[in-house]
Amino acid sequence: MSNTILVGAQWGDEGKGKIIDFLTETAQIVVRSQGGNNAGHTVIVGGTKYVLHLIPSGILRPGTLCVIGNGVVLDPIAVAVEIEGLRSKGIQVTPQNLMISDAAHLVLPYHRLLDEAREASRGAGKIGTTKRGIGPAYGDKIARVGLRVADLLHTESFEQKLATRVAENNAVLAAQGLPGLVLAEILPALQAAAEALRPFIANTVVYLHEAVEAKKEILFEGAQGTFLDIDHGTYPYVTSSNTTAGGACTGSGVPPHKIDKVLGVIKAYTTRVGEGPFPTENEGISDLLHGMGREFGSTTGRARRCGWFDAVAVRYAGIINGIDELAVTNLDGLDTLATIKVCTHYELRGKRVDYPPMDYTDLAACVPVYIELPGWLTPTDAIREWKALPENARHYLEKIASLSGAKLKIASVGPNREQTILL
Ligand code: GDP
Ligand code: IMO
Ligand code: MG
Repeated sequence: MSNTILVGAQWGDEGKGKIIDFLTETAQIVVRSQGGNNAGHTVIVGGTKYVLHLIPSGILRPGTLCVIGNGVVLDPIAVAVEIEGLRSKGIQVTPQNLMISDAAHLVLPYHRLLDEAREASRGAGKIGTTKRGIGPAYGDKIARVGLRVADLLHTESFEQKLATRVAENNAVLAAQGLPGLVLAEILPALQAAAEALRPFIANTVVYLHEAVEAKKEILFEGAQGTFLDIDHGTYPYVTSSNTTAGGACTGSGVPPHKIDKVLGVIKAYTTRVGEGPFPTENEGISDLLHGMGREFGSTTGRARRCGWFDAVAVRYAGIINGIDELAVTNLDGLDTLATIKVCTHYELRGKRVDYPPMDYTDLAACVPVYIELPGWLTPTDAIREWKALPENARHYLEKIASLSGAKLKIASVGPNREQTILL
């Protein structure tokens, strides 16, 4: 039994949802500890596609307990809608398999308006956020003016607290010439969501402590990816939470020494959605993948930017997260290429660089240096065993793992649960 933190080791959308679903065959508890409904984790089970935004991907496995931890920013209306959406597909969501932390901060309607307004005012310098209100909600948390899930449960005081926050944020919106919110118009939906969520709300820290003591197996489901981390990512083109392994501890209340392993999830190539530097971005591979109908965002539907595998980035992700093992997804995306490039290091103004510079203008100025590996020109999506993979595919996977400094553990050759090779 081991407690594992699963993190995205690139720019998000690495296939975390699929790997979580695969691993919940044994894990008993799945915890989301950061992010909000900016996340979109796709899981395909029995031919049905589910896109999870706030609810941990473990919800699809009967008997798995899912926890939305204190570090998440929770849009109460969105999570209530997500619960109903799952139920309409025949998935049971009850207080027996979903718990929501009373200390999680709320994403409220003014956060979404502020997110949109800030993006609009940035013009060409926009971040390309998901417009789910994530940045403003975390901003309020850090500024100590946020409202939390526990506040939502106290009907009368919640109305008063919300009224104060609406008035303050309306002033901010008015200063930009934007219309504000009317309390009476937003309150009923929030109150309805509060009642729908009430049975799920608990002190999840205490629950997780007891689960750790009882030696239950816990999986921490990272959202976003390492280079979207507020501290370690390509700031300011990042999200507003710690997407890296440390965030799993602060965002759940489970202490670091109770963690046994960190699993990094990567794609066999690289994608990024939203703005910001992306050294190995490549039009040819973007066109190839988009032409296959792949790499469109699961939350916003935007086409993802695509590029070659960047070992400089993943090596750095290995350091920050302490990645022990790697799960490589979307190997099948490269099946039709005769040669595949892999970036081993960058050059910045004539000098070799082995780790990504933290300044985004420097990162944008980095020129990737590639090696070329032979492709395998064979469909891999029906392969289930390591030995059955074409030799060049095995060589490619071993090479990107060794360049990244971590042990290869899982290779994924399709979006379905069965399309997974365990090494
Ligand atoms: P997440 O946010 O990290 O969970 O990733 P997303 O769900 O946003 O994006 C990953 C996409 O790749 C989804 O459409 C998955 O269904 C899909 N996917 C995951 N693993 C594989 C794979 O090995 N092969 C293929 N073809 N698709 C995959
Ligand atoms: P999952 O969990 C990929 C990106 C946005 C934008 C930046 C900031 O599915 O991997 P935000 O709305 O968070 O303020 O946007 O972060 N972003 C993601 N990109 N996958 C995600 O989640 C993302 N969540 C946010 O596109 O560039
Ligand atoms: Mg995603």
